[in-house]
Amino acid sequence: MKLTTSPIIEPPLIKGNFFLGHLIDAKKEGVYFYTRMSKDHGDALRIKFGHQTVYLFFNPEHNKEVLVDKPDQFIKGAQYEPLRLLLGNGLLTSTGQNWSKQRRMLSPLFGKEGMDILLTHIDRISEKYSTPKINEEINWTKYMFEYTLEVAFASFFGASSSPDQKEELLKASSACIRLISKRMSNVINPPMYFPLKEHRQFRKSFLYLKNTVEEIYNSRLKISDSPANDMLDLLMKAQDTEGGNKKLTRDEVWDQILSFLIAGHETTALTMSWFFYLLAQNPEIQEKIAEECVKNNFQFENSLALSQYTYLMATINETMRLYPSGWILARSAAEEATVGGFRVKKGSTVAVSPLITQRDPRWWSNPDEFIPERFLEGHALFHQAPKNAFIPFSIGRRNCIGSRFALLEIAMFAIHFFKNNRVSTTQTNVKMKGFVTLKSDKHIQIKVSNKNLQANQFCNSLQR
Ligand code: HEM
Repeated sequence: MKLTTSPIIEPPLIKGNFFLGHLIDAKKEGVYFYTRMSKDHGDALRIKFGHQTVYLFFNPEHNKEVLVDKPDQFIKGAQYEPLRLLLGNGLLTSTGQNWSKQRRMLSPLFGKEGMDILLTHIDRISEKYSTPKINEEINWTKYMFEYTLEVAFASFFGASSSPDQKEELLKASSACIRLISKRMSNVINPPMYFPLKEHRQFRKSFLYLKNTVEEIYNSRLKISDSPANDMLDLLMKAQDTEGGNKKLTRDEVWDQILSFLIAGHETTALTMSWFFYLLAQNPEIQEKIAEECVKNNFQFENSLALSQYTYLMATINETMRLYPSGWILARSAAEEATVGGFRVKKGSTVAVSPLITQRDPRWWSNPDEFIPERFLEGHALFHQAPKNAFIPFSIGRRNCIGSRFALLEIAMFAIHFFKNNRVSTTQTNVKMKGFVTLKSDKHIQIKVSNKNLQANQFCNSLQR
């Protein structure tokens, strides 16, 4: 479908409150505000948040235009300011030449070789977490946050930290991530110099984290000729082949670690919470995953082994279609531009939404249902959606650098977990809640049962 109109025309302005525009509605309704806007007003529209103009575009072709075709016109701007203030200028937040240099240097780390090095750490932690308490309701959201944080620390620093130090590191990074997420979700934030308890706590945790990473970094400098064993080693060895083989400075290494932690921790934990919420309601899908694991002998030789787990991957993709944790992607218009033939003014905000495109009935049949088979090529339910209608890791040059890492983290946990366990839940109507990432309105509660115990109990009841 070609989406063109006169370049002079802006998308229709949807009227809101005279002073605040749609600020209150968007804050109150969250995700559902945007789904309502798309249903009522179509693929391209304009709203106001106070004095700020926001253009919303919901068509797969718009996704491509904003994220792939015009990255110099649609840049990471003011929306990323609260993050820049706290994270410095790592890969997630930087722009221009600085960003392209970093991306060039860091991309190989997330390729097969890098991932194979991190795989041992992911394997160890996923196995450790795959035996939670049996027959009790577990706050699964919290459990998944703990799991992904521990995977991050194990993969970033390997065996460098002592158990006590590890506990402290986990606590400090949780505290930092909490405040950063909160500030990203608020429209207005008090300045960090305000003497609030949470600001003091943040500074203390941030300093602890930074000093500890520095200590580990300094101790690694002394053994720089040993082979890479974790992400810190990989970062310290990375070289800019187009920039005189320069290495990252200590501050740049720190900025990257913090960026990976912020970009990867919550996104993966939320995806895994939704994943188990969906599986808990679909026991037959759990059995199909388990059958595939048995067929593969629960083996996972290297990071390419994901391709042997096609059904598991289909269930993960289907989860990310329904619940993409990066559900809305915002950019600033660096200059006057067009999207779908509509005029976009310089300095305004432009947003596209993986969530809305991925639940659009024009591209997906029964869009709100969990049907993993739609991702299984060759299956009767396989469905070829338009190219840019499935973008959970975004597209274009600023797509997710950690996508393979995230998929390994999710898949390896599932492979260990379904060896002996199955899940159920009494929750049925958990709603989406999101400003930056796609959370659930309440914590996901999961009950784990032991598959072997279940089978034994069944045999005993037959014998009686
Ligand atoms: C299921 C889990 C994940 C999802 C759904 C996800 C999704 C995304 C999305 C949508 C973006 C684009 C954001 C934007 O353009 O505004 C992104 C960027 C990014 N992600 Fe992920 N992510 C996940 C896990 C991870 C992990 C585990 C890491 C690191 C280990 C990571 C590191 C990054 C970084 C550094 C960027 C910025 C890349 C750049 O601008 O060059 N992500 N991610």
